[in-house]
Amino acid sequence: MNRFLTVVFIFLVRLVTAPLPPMRPWVPLGHPDRNRPTCIFTVMCYNVLCDKYATRQMYGYCPSWVLKWEYRRKSILEEIRHYSADIISLQEVETEQFYNYFLPELKRDGYDGIFSPKSRAKTMAESDRRYVDGCAIFYRTAKFSLVYDHLIEFNQLALANAEGSDDMLNRVMTKDNIGLAALLETKEAAWSNGIRPDPSQIHQPLLVCTAHIHWDPQYCDVKLVQTMMLMNELKQLTQDAVGHSFRPGHKADPSHTQLLLCGDFNSLLDSGVIEFLNSSRIAANHPDFKELGYKSCLQKIAPFSDKTNEFTHPFRLATAYTTDVMPYSNYTYDFKGLIDYIFYSKNTMVPLGLLGPVDAEWFRENKVLGCPHRDIPSDHFSLLVELEMSPTYSGLGSNGFIPRR
Ligand SMILES: *[C@@H]1O[C@H](CO)[C@@H](O)[C@H](O)[C@H]1NC(C)=O
Ligand SMILES: *[C@@H]1O[C@H](CO)[C@@H](O)[C@H](O)[C@H]1NC(C)=O
Repeated sequence: MNRFLTVVFIFLVRLVTAPLPPMRPWVPLGHPDRNRPTCIFTVMCYNVLCDKYATRQMYGYCPSWVLKWEYRRKSILEEIRHYSADIISLQEVETEQFYNYFLPELKRDGYDGIFSPKSRAKTMAESDRRYVDGCAIFYRTAKFSLVYDHLIEFNQLALANAEGSDDMLNRVMTKDNIGLAALLETKEAAWSNGIRPDPSQIHQPLLVCTAHIHWDPQYCDVKLVQTMMLMNELKQLTQDAVGHSFRPGHKADPSHTQLLLCGDFNSLLDSGVIEFLNSSRIAANHPDFKELGYKSCLQKIAPFSDKTNEFTHPFRLATAYTTDVMPYSNYTYDFKGLIDYIFYSKNTMVPLGLLGPVDAEWFRENKVLGCPHRDIPSDHFSLLVELEMSPTYSGLGSNGFIPRR
């Protein structure tokens, strides 16, 4: 017993006196183009771990004062403020925390934001609804304005596309994950490489989307189907938005649309989800579909080729983070892996740099078994990338888009 107490005591002393983790390194990846006007901005993606899921049962290695939301939310906001990204996408924000904490605080720093709770909120009493978590997008109002936002509800899309597929109804429709999209438009201050843009190009459309995909490793099929539905919605959004603003009769090409897709995909780099996003295609017999009966409904959701037996999406995306720079973005006792990502349109955007990982040596030396931790407020690490975007759109300016209602 005494030995046990000694071990606990040493653990607590270490916890309180442990040195702060060193600053996360900035990894430079490129230089801004000095020959033509471009937009430069930073994007953060962060699953903040909502209070409801931060239980002692889940995070037994973590002392209760470290798990307390009042403590964590302060460090989360400090971290957001420290990196001060131009676009911030958050997952697991509770409804009340968005409206009463993050939004008012970040408004003081020059942001505005949008939020949507997970779909279960619809069927709940007002008093419970404020604890439902969801996705948020904040943008710096000096650089961007909001043209419209759009909620993507995977259970609704599953229902609409089920076509009598039991797996679609029983496995996909029962999960209330969401994505949230915002069509932003750049303002003059976003053109920050030092060369003035042509006035007709100042207002570039930029579709920002954040998603929180289902977590359970047993349901890799659901993750993949949710991601395919997400890409289909984004395709329709860009066709509506950009199609209207281009010359009449000009068919919008989503492969030219500037898309930023951030989120907690709960999927490792070698998963079907990431293969589909990164390569724009996925085999209809990919093992992640688990040979379940999705094929006929998916043909309505994603273009399908009989010849290659593949589903595709029309965007051309690359991931800013891979395990080469970031071995894990979720760090708990049982599981450590890269499951959060920032995808960008690779035809028009170039990453200039990104935020590297927390020093692995610090974890070892201080015997940190998992997060949250005194100095790391979530069990996820924030991702941050600086991007340079070339203009693809020139035309009507801010009144050119037809808002989708
Ligand atoms: C991080 O990963 C672990 C293991 O998959 C999971 O239990 C935990 O919920 C994840 N954290 C979040 C906030 O998604
Ligand atoms: C993503 O696709 C590129 C080629 O377009 C490839 O080089 C890279 O390895 C892929 N990454 C992943 C994680 O699949």
